[in-house]
Amino acid sequence: MIEIIRENRLIHLRNACISYVMAELPGGVLAHLYFGAPLRTLHPQGLLRHAGIASIEDFTVQECSLDKLPQELPSFGLGDMRPGAVTVEGPDGSWSADLRLVSSEVIDGKPALQDLPATRDAGGSKTLRLTLRDEHTGLEAQLLYTLFEHLPVVARSVRLRNTGSQALRVTRLHSLCLDLPDDKWELITMNGAWGRERGIYRRPLMPGFQGTASRHGASSLQSSPFLALARPGANEAHGEVIAAALIYSGSFTATVFGHQYGSARMLIGLNDEDFSWLLEPGEALQSPEAVLVHSREGIGGMSAAFHALWRGHLLPQRWVSQPRPVLFNSWEAAYFDFDEDKLVAIAKAAAEAGADLFVLDDGWFGHRDNDCTSLGDWYTDRRKLPGGLGCLVDKVRDTGLQFGIWMEPEMISPESDLYHTHPDWAMQIPGREPITSRHQLILDVSREDVQDFMVESVSQTIRDSGAVYIKWDMNRNYSNIGSAVLPPERQRKLPHRYMIGLYRVMKRLTEAFPDVLFEGCSSGGGRFDAGLLYFCPQYWCSDNTDVLSRCRIQYGTTIVFPPSTMGCHVSAVPNHQTARVTPLNARFAAALCGSFGYELDPRKLTDEEREEVRRQITYAHETEDTRLNGRFYRLLSPFEGNDTAWISVREDQREAVLTFIRERSQVNFFPTLLPLRGLNPDFTYRVEETQEVYGGDELMQAGLLMPVKPGDAEALVYTIRTVEA
Ligand code: DGJ
Repeated sequence: MIEIIRENRLIHLRNACISYVMAELPGGVLAHLYFGAPLRTLHPQGLLRHAGIASIEDFTVQECSLDKLPQELPSFGLGDMRPGAVTVEGPDGSWSADLRLVSSEVIDGKPALQDLPATRDAGGSKTLRLTLRDEHTGLEAQLLYTLFEHLPVVARSVRLRNTGSQALRVTRLHSLCLDLPDDKWELITMNGAWGRERGIYRRPLMPGFQGTASRHGASSLQSSPFLALARPGANEAHGEVIAAALIYSGSFTATVFGHQYGSARMLIGLNDEDFSWLLEPGEALQSPEAVLVHSREGIGGMSAAFHALWRGHLLPQRWVSQPRPVLFNSWEAAYFDFDEDKLVAIAKAAAEAGADLFVLDDGWFGHRDNDCTSLGDWYTDRRKLPGGLGCLVDKVRDTGLQFGIWMEPEMISPESDLYHTHPDWAMQIPGREPITSRHQLILDVSREDVQDFMVESVSQTIRDSGAVYIKWDMNRNYSNIGSAVLPPERQRKLPHRYMIGLYRVMKRLTEAFPDVLFEGCSSGGGRFDAGLLYFCPQYWCSDNTDVLSRCRIQYGTTIVFPPSTMGCHVSAVPNHQTARVTPLNARFAAALCGSFGYELDPRKLTDEEREEVRRQITYAHETEDTRLNGRFYRLLSPFEGNDTAWISVREDQREAVLTFIRERSQVNFFPTLLPLRGLNPDFTYRVEETQEVYGGDELMQAGLLMPVKPGDAEALVYTIRTVEA
């Protein structure tokens, strides 16, 4: 049950998993008092004295230092020396916002956020809406706090509105500020690069400013819009963790400030380096939504909360538990070098192996023989496909497969018909030569005419091909950040307006084609974030499909995102990214962790391999519900040792799929005895591959032996099922 209790100047939000408490101090100053495990009641005197305030009644802004006060929406310039959550320049040029609480209301359910993806009510949630006002400028801030039943989560957002008579300029807007009474934490962020996305970085919290950020115009390959604070010693199963994630796909900051008094402030929101928003009288600006998670069961408990939140309240509900097609993607099979015969032959071999879907990747449109041209010219390259897309699709369908296709709708090649017709549609700074990356420019997606073009070209491609799947790619980050249609004083709106435009396009397309599966991609996992997962139920995890690299990338990704969201494919050896040769079984074991497929030419498989692939696909189908919809536990971390292991356990605990991958072969060690998690201690299980029978308690306490073969990158996949009584 969710309760929002307002009494004695305290506001207490509570469900079975968490409490969140604030205090309305005299003068309307909104203090934060507590976030953590659920409390029956809160007597605030201790927390207030900790912040240097004798009692609520004794508080005055003049005499109590705001630098000591934990706050909900602090701004700079009022005595608080920590980084603020909002900065707004007034007509007089000053830039502090003195926001005081003027009203509060409780709403059943959850209001949608204008233009931005956000968590949804799935029945039973409650929202607290607080309105704060700065009398000096007329700036109003509406803060939303939503609690969901049975989840240790608070969803938060801020909406600013100019109720004054003169223009204001917002130069900082965080979605969430959380002041914590102590700094005895370790900071966890996810960082990486192309081919090694979402590594886990953990370090002690230090005084001052630390965290992660992106100014790429995308959440980026380099950092994820997420951060966690874990108590020293907190591990996968034990210890307190507080985490925040932003439902946003553009530039962001996720930071913590260790304060002089030994407290800590967590902030997550828009990156203000490339942001400045002119707010005319009557205009409003909505922040992205941030979600705050509390776990008493370590990092694993935090991940479970994120997974349940995204699955129940964010992912397109139509796809959450829907079986995903096993796909064969043409990219590493053919790159740009194909014609109709070759594609049909690949599709035929894929169909014989038991696949469901053939995906035609890059190279099918304009005159695209390499990555130098044609983005924007979304019509079939008749040199390669003389009968047009329709003819190819008919032949692919004749093999028994469905058809999916790649597009990169946000981009434009200078060498394209589109650029010659609409050069002003590219983001650019008038008078400066645009800087390309991967020989391409970015469309100014903030423009409505560009949005219409994107919707129309994707719709037309779906209509022409009957595609049931779109791989939505995005392969470069910002330069030339300028819009031909914005006046100078509004140019710095562009990065955020771009994201609003992109979300509008995605909304229109996913509403128009609800049965089409959209898989996101950005040079691999460069925009793997909750913003795009609102529209795309799965996301290509990384261009790096090497088993050992994938152990790290996928292990890291599951810190925040559930297995069903990860596109994971078996590829050929030597691996195209690392040149490593690994056994087919290990490549399969790694790819089983997510939405499963292949990134290779099936015609090049030996007869033996083809048989093995057929068995793999059957197995992937049979175990899909457990693997993708079960509860996921990380067991051994590739960041900490030579072995990686994880297990997915079906909700009724009657089936589990265990994956174990050894990185380097080792001599003269005992084989690993691996304690499992998530099983029912009272059930009896059989390991199908060995036919051995164990109690659930034994498997979790004594462990299961992992008799992996000698050799690098050797793997085991075990299916663990209850023995029928
Ligand atoms: C980058 C993607 O990550 C790849 O999978 C592939 O689709 C290429 N783009 C195509 O250009």
